[in-house]
Amino acid sequence: MKNTDSKSHLQGKSVYIDDIPEIQGTLYGLVYDSPVAHAKNLTINYQKAENYPGVIQIFTYKDIPGENQTGAIIKDEPLFAENEVHYIGQPIALIVAESERIARDAKKLIEFGAEELPVITDPIIAKKNKNFLIPPRTFKIGNLKDGIKNSKYIVKGQSETGGQEHLYLETQGSYAVPKEKGQITLYSSTQGPTSVQKITAQILNIPMNQIEVDVNRLGGGFGGKEDQATPWAAMASLAAFILNKPVKVSLSRHDDIRMTGKRHPYTADYTIGFSDDLKIQFYEVEFIQDGGASADLSPAIMERTLLHATGSYFIPNSEITVFSCRTNTPPNTAFRGFGGPQGFFAIESALQQAAYEIGVPVNQIQKINLLTEGDEFPYGQKAEHAEAVNSWLTAEKKFNIEEKIKAVNEFNSLNTDFKKGYSITPLCFGISFTNTVMNHARALVHIYQDGSIGISTGAIEMGQGVNTKMIQVAAYVLGISSNKIKIETTNTTRVANTSPTAASSGADLNGKAVEIAAGELLKRLIDVASNMLNSKSENIFINDEFVFLNNERTEITWNKLIETAFLKRIKLSEKGHYATPEIWFDKSKEKGHPFAYHVYGTAYTEAKVDTLRGIYDIETVEIIHDFGKSMNFLLDKGQVEGALIQGIGWLTIEEIKYDSNGKLLSNALSTYKVPDINSVPKNVTVEALDTEGHKNAILKSKAVGEPPFIYGIGAYFAVLNAIKAFNPKYSAEFSAPITHEKVLMSLYK
Ligand code: MTE
Ligand code: HPA
Ligand code: MOS
Repeated sequence: MKNTDSKSHLQGKSVYIDDIPEIQGTLYGLVYDSPVAHAKNLTINYQKAENYPGVIQIFTYKDIPGENQTGAIIKDEPLFAENEVHYIGQPIALIVAESERIARDAKKLIEFGAEELPVITDPIIAKKNKNFLIPPRTFKIGNLKDGIKNSKYIVKGQSETGGQEHLYLETQGSYAVPKEKGQITLYSSTQGPTSVQKITAQILNIPMNQIEVDVNRLGGGFGGKEDQATPWAAMASLAAFILNKPVKVSLSRHDDIRMTGKRHPYTADYTIGFSDDLKIQFYEVEFIQDGGASADLSPAIMERTLLHATGSYFIPNSEITVFSCRTNTPPNTAFRGFGGPQGFFAIESALQQAAYEIGVPVNQIQKINLLTEGDEFPYGQKAEHAEAVNSWLTAEKKFNIEEKIKAVNEFNSLNTDFKKGYSITPLCFGISFTNTVMNHARALVHIYQDGSIGISTGAIEMGQGVNTKMIQVAAYVLGISSNKIKIETTNTTRVANTSPTAASSGADLNGKAVEIAAGELLKRLIDVASNMLNSKSENIFINDEFVFLNNERTEITWNKLIETAFLKRIKLSEKGHYATPEIWFDKSKEKGHPFAYHVYGTAYTEAKVDTLRGIYDIETVEIIHDFGKSMNFLLDKGQVEGALIQGIGWLTIEEIKYDSNGKLLSNALSTYKVPDINSVPKNVTVEALDTEGHKNAILKSKAVGEPPFIYGIGAYFAVLNAIKAFNPKYSAEFSAPITHEKVLMSLYK
């Protein structure tokens, strides 16, 4: 099936927040945010701004009827700063005016005063000061002492990865429309409509049932709208609630980049040991996570780093600790991979460093340590249906990796102005929200009298194609064409208490709920058909919009069947509820079975470095990916390609920089470089590993949103190996992103 949105996207007719026709009298809210990174005793004079013609009202924490709080996991984040500010960009007030332009002019008239405090942007200093967002956590397996005893080679080192701006094409935004009796309909560009509803209700001090959150689609989220879409929605609602007028808050690109959190920068200090035959004996690693000014989702992200710290390898003895540190930057948040990529980068750095020091190719170390069936992860779950070795061997064979490596080496022996490097990146990513209680979803399916269908789920469409998959599930179960089915907006009144669309689980959780609801409807319809045909229901099925009896097509069409069912007063609506089976986690022991299954894969990457200029191209990425039984290969392939490029961007050119005063320097697309069409490798191949799929995956089609982000890591090591080929004396650093500037400096170090 084609993406259900492809035509409207192509025609520019798809509706995002800013495309919703505005109701007459709509007002605009502009956020006034802190110009300093750390201060107390705020004295802010709004007088002149308030008097500016066209300004309706300026809202501060004093106007909040309920709780001034947006923190989802830990209540450490006010909607509007009260007496202190902790980062540049922290919201302090909302200027509501007749137009955005007026609000912007008025903003300049606000006079800020405060007592400034020391600014900390370095998480390592924050750690020294014991400035933690939450207490550290440690996962352990085996015994480090045994590992050390059995090790012939022991390698110690450090790696670091930087932040990343989400750069969703649609910036954060929301539109709040007051209804009668103080109720609100809230349009929000959010991955988590229920969080928006719940937190807005708490802020307004009204029950959740007074707020209807409606989401058509997002122009991208990538995790950045999992919970950081909430403040803007709450602000618009606050103003709408008090003024009884529709209010829109839609961030400009500059405001969005300045005010919102990013991927968490991490550092890792590791020690790793190997036996004589290069089997990993132990891995001890301490991560420092830069959480920004408040907890946001950092505790959950820390958890996924712990879960993914051993990458795709079996390590019998390991001890993994993460410290989550508070700094004076915007609270960092969910971003594709959710702490997993940072864990992967550290273990791959450790292996690469060991390979350099021992003097063997890293692929040799990687390959013999890949997870195999029944291997235990540090969190207690065992690898089942492990495809790490299978995908590695398949990639080796399909892509002639041995030949390619020879060609790279030959190229390097003949050239000095250009050097090539390659890497192989294995993937093993756990699917489920790490927080077990979040793994459930519901769907509502209506069959209308004319045979057409409307489906509502908790899933948010953000470009990944989840709506298309939901339609496919219903069409498949009911035996009808997808063009009979409409996917409705995601709406908290139709489907309540949703988890955000995240953790790559949107299609699995919501798809299973659709499958259940459609399955119930099918049973009922088969009963109706069996009455009509005077025959047993076992012999009946529906296909191609016809009822079949004993494998023969009957005269009864889908439409006829529905009409008959309706006249017989049969219930033509159903709600499905799904909760992932078999998952659990015991935090007191840090052991359990947190994931429904794992996704595997292997990427081969080649880079070419210009040794005069330091610039480089990622030339080739060839991927064998475990899709299970993909239900929509084009969509899934698009996810792999998109994740790959986003991953390459993170590790190569995207560099977030704050100055020592906490001011974001890379605050626009002129200073923050993201991959464009020219950064896309000339050769990107994505092929499916032939597997059975997994019963916990929707129609055995495995989750695909985040895992392939990990393949981007290959770009780092391919470039690094090209540098090494030019400058063998270079003592490799594992500090991403490996920008062109960094490459130039390393070539001649
Ligand atoms: N693809 C597009 N086009 N836009 C997005 O915002 N978000 C990613 C991924 N792919 C995203 C995307 C992230 S972070 C997640 S968790 C998954 O999609 C969520 O959707 P799913 O659960 O349906 O895979
Ligand atoms: N992944 C993504 N988002 C989340 C998770 C997770 O595991 N847990 C809570 N939010
Ligand atoms: Mo994705 S980071 O789980 O929204």
